Amino acid sequence: MNASPLQPAQAQGTGRDQDGTVLYGGITNRRVTVRDLAKAKQHGERWAMLTAYDALTAGVFDEAGIPVLLVGDSAGNCHLGYETTVPVTMDQMVMLSAAVVRGTKRALVVADLPFGSYQESPAQAMHNAARLLKEAGVQAVKLEGGERSARSIELLVEAGIPVMAHIGLTPQSVHAFGGYPVQGRGDEAAHRLLRDAKAVQQAGAFAVVLEAVPAELAAQVTAQLAIPTVGIGAGVDTDAQVLVWTDFAGMTAGRVPKFVKQYANLRAVLGDAAREFAADVQSGAFPGPEHSFS
Ligand code: KIV
Repeated sequence: MNASPLQPAQAQGTGRDQDGTVLYGGITNRRVTVRDLAKAKQHGERWAMLTAYDALTAGVFDEAGIPVLLVGDSAGNCHLGYETTVPVTMDQMVMLSAAVVRGTKRALVVADLPFGSYQESPAQAMHNAARLLKEAGVQAVKLEGGERSARSIELLVEAGIPVMAHIGLTPQSVHAFGGYPVQGRGDEAAHRLLRDAKAVQQAGAFAVVLEAVPAELAAQVTAQLAIPTVGIGAGVDTDAQVLVWTDFAGMTAGRVPKFVKQYANLRAVLGDAAREFAADVQSGAFPGPEHSFS
């Protein structure tokens, strides 16, 4: 690794020694594995996950020490210009995932199985998950659904494919939900979410994303599961947090969901740079002699 991704300040406060099992301040010479994430849960170490859709940004996040990168099918609306994740294809996911793997050295790379690539049968899930491992080189896959996806998760795990599950608000079901409503509100919905969480753990998932669920419910699920929970819009008590990179970096146009914190304003920075470049070209200020050959 050319950068030291793991800042001592981040490792402080975990109360543990630097024995190589610590995600922040430990492992630097190999990729993070699902075993490291299991140990992090045992040690009570929280971790961050970001989405990435290309080699360049993935490399920046890898050097910054983000231990897990998700090639989300959010690429559909955040990278490829679609309105939802629904149109994203397997070929697109393979291409984007391969770029993220090429751009990283340390992060565990997880790729989404897109809509229509696993719901038909466990065999279909197996075929497409294998494509992501063999053609793109990712180390794990993610799929949506709790009890309804348990058989597919079981088959993949038996075949040696680490699976991250995703329950609560599952964006591939946007048309069934009629939008992106918070999930798990009310006793019955809360019990269903807990059942889904236990079903994916039982099926062998190594972690589960909880999207848009009340913070108190996410805390209960996290306390009852042995595998790490990864929250997005699920409050502070999950084991990990994930954000879509274009949201967290301020690249997204217009409103972002309530649960997003913007850590930068890249849209404004890039827009300003583009306007300054255009003005320099118009005025003849660029290229200057220092940018020209004699
Ligand atoms: O596709 C995606 O980016 C996701 C995250 C929101 C968890 O599934």
